[in-house]
Amino acid sequence: MIFGRIKPLDAILATAEKKSLTRSLGAFQLTMLGIGAVIGTGIFVLTAEAAQKAGPGMMLSFIIAGFVCAVAALCYAEMAAMVPVSGSAYTYSYAVMGELIAWMVGWALILEYAVAAGAVSVGWSGYVVGLLENAFSIDIPDLLVRGPYDGGIVNLPAMAIAGLVTWLLVIGTKESAAVNAVLVAIKVAALTLFIILAVPVMKMENFTPFSPLGFAGVSAAAASIFFAYVGFDAVSTAAEETKNPQRNMPIGLIGSLAICTIFYILVAAGVIGSVGAQPMLGPDGAALPPGSTQLAQACANSIASTGHDAVVCSKEALAWTLREIGWPQIGNLIGLAAGLALPSVILMMMFGQTRIFFVMSRDGLLPAVFSKIHPKFHTPHVITILTGIFVAMFAAFFPVGKLADISNSGTLFAFAAVSIAVLVLRRTDPSRKRPFRTPAIMITAPIAVAGCIYLFFSLGTETKLMFVGWAAIGLVVYFLYGYRKSHVGLGHVEVHETDTDAPPQPVPPVPDL
Ligand code: ALA
Repeated sequence: MIFGRIKPLDAILATAEKKSLTRSLGAFQLTMLGIGAVIGTGIFVLTAEAAQKAGPGMMLSFIIAGFVCAVAALCYAEMAAMVPVSGSAYTYSYAVMGELIAWMVGWALILEYAVAAGAVSVGWSGYVVGLLENAFSIDIPDLLVRGPYDGGIVNLPAMAIAGLVTWLLVIGTKESAAVNAVLVAIKVAALTLFIILAVPVMKMENFTPFSPLGFAGVSAAAASIFFAYVGFDAVSTAAEETKNPQRNMPIGLIGSLAICTIFYILVAAGVIGSVGAQPMLGPDGAALPPGSTQLAQACANSIASTGHDAVVCSKEALAWTLREIGWPQIGNLIGLAAGLALPSVILMMMFGQTRIFFVMSRDGLLPAVFSKIHPKFHTPHVITILTGIFVAMFAAFFPVGKLADISNSGTLFAFAAVSIAVLVLRRTDPSRKRPFRTPAIMITAPIAVAGCIYLFFSLGTETKLMFVGWAAIGLVVYFLYGYRKSHVGLGHVEVHETDTDAPPQPVPPVPDL
């Protein structure tokens, strides 16, 4: 019976206790950590996609997505504080809901991490190509910097950055706290500068019609823009190192999400108010799908006939807006900021991915070769390179919005599963020690699950079908391989966190105090 295949929580917790890191982080550090992990391609690039889906109503989309993240984050934090081990959502599901659900969560996390890394690589490429063109007049043919859905053949810069990050991970690079702090400062400064320049030139008429595609458009944009908040789980992951987690965790999680939401809304308002954000419509009056050849064609036609396109056409929405309102040099600076800061988001995503594969492989659900450790670099090089190849392929051939949506489908599934698991364990094991307890869990967890389901169903049909296809492949792989090879299934109870050759855990860069 598969549902009976449960990894004993006590064994996992015993290992986690052995690791016992010092508790040094306060609310402020957690908030900084969250902002560092969260701000990335979402706001810098996907703002254009959100505008194409919702028009000015995208401001509501940012609020809805931020709210769902906040409730999911509170549930995630209880789990992360209890089971502070790598592959946490996967490991936790293994302990609470059994092997099959754990496998499906792990399988969905591949979408969350690897596909997201591809999306951020494409976002990076858009900004760097724009910077090269505008600041240095280096014109690279569209065919080589866009995927086939986007009017090109292959996105070479996106492939290159994915390759570079893979190499950094193979040689064992971890982002230091100092580098993280600098990158947070760069990102926050870039967004602040944008707001200062764009907000004063807002025109109220650009906000009408506010919601040209109705609430369905607002929901669809919320489902996509959810990507802009992904990464807050980095805060939950630091639970173990947090002083007084019961107080500081919610402050760190909600604080960083609230600050990001405020930034996002101001940036969105700046874009809408200064240059307008109405969607491009097709001949039938319907909005053209973002990242489609039809939209690329409509944008090209608009330039040919009027010498002008719209923010929804841009691969670098914020830099484009600043150029449009007369700040070309600052636009280039924003491009530079994105070019410097986004690779660290790719690094964190791929790092998380390799560690989840590592644990799944050590549990016998994936081949043992995946958890081979490089003798010199002490990194899981085989799986890192394999992950890198997939990320580079996603980045080369798919548009950023499609990748972000697919990634969101996996993330929403995993967060819903975790929220359910947290609730289940409160019932089945109420007396277990919980360093952090989700406030009002009987309300928070059901809202989180409902929010994830609502956003999932607001994704495009193609994305939902891709997710179902991916889940089906996952089930086949499980029954052909993992079901027979699973160590728990074979009766071994093991926890690999303390294996002497285990690589560093996916603990995000935190300040050394
Ligand atoms: N939230 C991260 C980003 O927007 C993943 O790039």
